[in-house]
Amino acid sequence: MKHRKLGRTDIEVSEICLGSMTWGTQNSEAEGHAQIDYALDHGVNFIDTAELYPSNPMSAGTVGRTEEIIGSWIKTSGRRGDIVLASKVAGEGHEYLQDGIGISPHKIRVSIEGSLARLQTDCIDLYQLHWPNRGSYHFRQNWRYDPSKQDTQQTLAHIHETLECLGQLVTDGKIRCIGLSNETCWGTAQFLRIAAENDFPRVVSLQNEYSLLYRSHDLDLAELSHHEQVGLLPYSPLSGGLLTGKYQDGARPDGSRLTINPGLFGRVHDGIWPVLDAYLTVARKHDLDPAQMAIAFCNQRPFVTSSIIGATSLEQLANDIASSELELGAEVLEDIDAVHRRYPVPF
Ligand SMILES: NC(=O)c1ccc[n+]([C@@H]2O[C@H](COP(=O)([O-])OP(=O)(O)OC[C@H]3O[C@@H](n4cnc5c(N)ncnc54)[C@H](OP(=O)(O)O)[C@@H]3O)[C@@H](O)[C@H]2O)c1
Repeated sequence: MKHRKLGRTDIEVSEICLGSMTWGTQNSEAEGHAQIDYALDHGVNFIDTAELYPSNPMSAGTVGRTEEIIGSWIKTSGRRGDIVLASKVAGEGHEYLQDGIGISPHKIRVSIEGSLARLQTDCIDLYQLHWPNRGSYHFRQNWRYDPSKQDTQQTLAHIHETLECLGQLVTDGKIRCIGLSNETCWGTAQFLRIAAENDFPRVVSLQNEYSLLYRSHDLDLAELSHHEQVGLLPYSPLSGGLLTGKYQDGARPDGSRLTINPGLFGRVHDGIWPVLDAYLTVARKHDLDPAQMAIAFCNQRPFVTSSIIGATSLEQLANDIASSELELGAEVLEDIDAVHRRYPVPF
């Protein structure tokens, strides 16, 4: 397992990050703990969660449960020092989290106390803003994205007060560093500029969706990652499971995500199946497991710090973590490139 530094910090994280958003719905507390133990035994030291989790589905009754499951693992294992722990403050829109208010210094101060208590720790290593108040083009908003109504001065003032608040949390020892999620290139650049001008904490990572099917980080964001050392933490590297091939030919395995979340947040439409067929053909041609090929592709992108995987069983987890041993060669990458040119924006 390779390790890379988070941004310009000295914090070393494994190139595979263990996602947790199924713990508390699809997975029990014991299963969550078993996943952490397995991952740590196989070189993973990085865990991603959020105050909002679990998802699939999200609900008032379960919100916060995933952090509690990680917290009980920390308490019983005594291994807090063995993990780099990432969590997130939610953006606007979920009424069961502080009445759905957007991110503000007040919201952050309330949220961080809740997360620390549930996680049974004094400090979160990487604290991320889950999605921007002003919205973003992720989550299939790309087709109708219109930033022209955003208020520039208000947005910049919001970034300033958010960074100031996060800086205080760093000083207080409650967080070590900060990251963004579902952010844009302009937004990230503003966070970096305002931080530099005011001696506020510097963003170390950007957690956005990225996979063979969603290549939003390949252009301007790739350049930003390179020059600013803000690495991508790609989430949904299997596109919610689609890239495993498990749903081809109408298959719907019992309990799988597509049976719980029809449409997978807008990823599934009639046109998606031939795209998946094309990537599955590449995997077959090179005798590769399709999930491992998809995750290894993310791991090998030059702007990626750590790919955030998710699994609902130890078998899936073992398979997905083993992608870290796979190096995709030039021929595989050429075949992937050919499919990408045929289907540049599958959803
Ligand atoms: N910042 C954000 O807005 C955001 C959004 C989404 C996710 N995330 C983070 O990223 C993590 C991963 O996201 P994700 O779960 O969407 O990732 P993903 O890798 O695209 O999908 C994972 C799902 O695919 C299925 N799967 C995984 N490995 C498999 C295998 N080898 N064979 C067959 N099926 C397999 C499992 O679902 P089933 O068994 O149910 O089919 C699993 O839960 C989350 O836990 C969370 O930490 C962040």
